[in-house]
Amino acid sequence: MLRYLVAYASREGQTEKVAHHVARRLEDDGQLVRLIDIKTHETEAGADDCDAMLIAGSIHLGQFDTDLADFVMRHGEALRRCPSAFLPVSLSAASHEQSERNAVDEIARRFVAEHGWAPDVIYHVAGAIHDRELNYVERTVLHAIAEMKDVERDSSGNTEFTDWSALDEFVRSFEALVQSKPRRSSTPADSSV
Ligand SMILES: Cc1cc2nc3c(=O)[nH]c(=O)nc-3n(C[C@H](O)[C@H](O)[C@H](O)COP(=O)(O)O)c2cc1C
Repeated sequence: MLRYLVAYASREGQTEKVAHHVARRLEDDGQLVRLIDIKTHETEAGADDCDAMLIAGSIHLGQFDTDLADFVMRHGEALRRCPSAFLPVSLSAASHEQSERNAVDEIARRFVAEHGWAPDVIYHVAGAIHDRELNYVERTVLHAIAEMKDVERDSSGNTEFTDWSALDEFVRSFEALVQSKPRRSSTPADSSV
């Protein structure tokens, strides 16, 4: 059994759903999971005491949340020590246009580079459109973005693009990667052994 940290920053709730799904899959596989909501958590004490980290965050207007950036900075040492995965959640990941998917990958790669993080994997997750979670302006912006990115939305105002079985497959492959990597100690004294 290994200890996984799953941390997420979500605004309308889809990244939260993704993170909870990932945590459940890991637990089903017998792993020990600590789940942190970056935007509302009360304490991160002991968060770095883990064997692997998965960090998920959604994109709004081409950017990740500043809370996510702060979290990555605070946990930089652990992120460099442990195997880690970054899960950007966006509408672009659902686009039929390769150029849109490349553009969001570029945003994710720039984000990690700017914060001194080199995740083992960047796994893009297609998000959702939940009109009920948005005010008028946000809804108008999101509908315009969906059109621009060639993403078809349901007239119900509730469209989920996340591919849950592909996400399960990703979790399994990340577990295999973590399992194959030698464990590194968190303390300088231990690391010299
Ligand atoms: C106001 C607004 C701006 C958005 N901007 C982008 C964007 O620039 N690129 C993109 O791919 N998706 C964009 N999205 C889509 C979100 O990334 C997507 O809805 C995601 O599922 C939100 O995740 P969350 O519910 O965890 O916050 C935007 C959504 C909203 C509401």
